[in-house]
Amino acid sequence: MRLRTLIPQEALAARVSELGRALCAELGGEPVVMVGVLTGGFVFLADLIRAMPDQPMSVEFVAARSYSGTSSTGGVQITHELGAPIGDRHVVLVEDIVDTGLTLTRLRAALLARQPRSLRVVTLLDKPTRRRVPFTPDLVGFEIEDRFVVGYGLDLDGAYRNLPYVGELVSDEV
Ligand code: IMP
Ligand code: MG
Repeated sequence: MRLRTLIPQEALAARVSELGRALCAELGGEPVVMVGVLTGGFVFLADLIRAMPDQPMSVEFVAARSYSGTSSTGGVQITHELGAPIGDRHVVLVEDIVDTGLTLTRLRAALLARQPRSLRVVTLLDKPTRRRVPFTPDLVGFEIEDRFVVGYGLDLDGAYRNLPYVGELVSDEV
């Protein structure tokens, strides 16, 4: 297997800056709680918050794990809860990729139950053709086709998160 660059570092940086500016404009200077989804979302979150230098904010994390059981809709378990209350706060949930939509559907419901003032979901990548449940993020960095991608936080069995670009694993065979 070798890696083919799908989204180069410069394109990521440019798009993350745009997303940061868009979020700041929408928030209109009001404080926000930026909630990163562990583990994949941490690289995107780290760059995104630094694209919002004048925005008052705090940072929290949640983690979720999907488990395959008998349920055909798939199950998602929250494995790390928020460390601070978000009631009446503006909240932005920051994820690496939306695939089936199951993880963010579960996380969004869990956060909404805490009655934030507003809740936005921003994802770096979106694979809309893979949805098993309808889910529309509020902001998307890049829409991609049905491919398995790694880098910039995204992993394959824990590896490749540290790549500064988003790549696709392709077979060497020709
Ligand atoms: P969901 O299917 O929308 O619930 O996505 C759940 C999680 O699957 C994402 O947060 C990623 O951690 C992981 N995932 C989905 N597609 C990819 C991919 O192409 N590369 C790496 N991880 C992925
Ligand atoms: Mg993830």
